[in-house]
Amino acid sequence: MDGNGRWAKRRGQDRIYGHRRGIEATKTTVKDARRMGVSYLTLFALSTENLKRPRRELEALFNLLRGYIRQEIEQLVENGVRLRVIGRTELLPKDLQELIAGALAKSKNCRKMTLTIALCYGGRDEILRAAAKAMRLKKKSLDEKTFSALLDTAGMPDPDLLIRTGGELRISNFLLWQLAYTELYFTNTLWPDFSGKELRKAVKFYQTRERRFGLTSEQIEEKSQF
Ligand code: IPE
Ligand code: MG
Repeated sequence: MDGNGRWAKRRGQDRIYGHRRGIEATKTTVKDARRMGVSYLTLFALSTENLKRPRRELEALFNLLRGYIRQEIEQLVENGVRLRVIGRTELLPKDLQELIAGALAKSKNCRKMTLTIALCYGGRDEILRAAAKAMRLKKKSLDEKTFSALLDTAGMPDPDLLIRTGGELRISNFLLWQLAYTELYFTNTLWPDFSGKELRKAVKFYQTRERRFGLTSEQIEEKSQF
């Protein structure tokens, strides 16, 4: 969800104003995704690197997250949305950790969509923590399935589609392991301007892709005939 700062700057406003508008875009996008029947939506809200941003901006981001959870959790639960978090959430302020724990508990039986928020998240960090777990468990052999189960995203399917807003053409340490075969969609739209319309555009793009997973077109056609 990139581009909040630039969105605000273009309007002669403070970056924090952009984050506030970014939260509005987040609220509507989550609802639109649920309406469209998306089963898993994962939002990159805060990276391990973002933790080095100025204190004032970080505090504002934490506050917006507090507000988001407080305002939205009941509605999320009503709509069958299960909340999940990935990343080193132990680095968040204590009260926010508790607020998140409460929201996770409230939504734990929801089954229509899983909304995962990546907080204090880094793909390399996640892989390293999973490798450390594997060492602790003294795993003798490790295949992709057992390793995936040690990641924060354990039990979740790999993403079909990645959407990056804000015009940068990079992954920025997001879900490095999980994105191996994901379709990538980049848009210049800044996050606060993102909407259901943009989401549908990204899904349309996804629908034009042929996913071969390393096979040939002919093999994929044969498979789909059975
Ligand atoms: C993304 O917007 C939001 C977070 C990282 C929390 P940015 O703050 O990165 O916005 P730009 O890239 O400066 O426009
Ligand atoms: Mg940015």
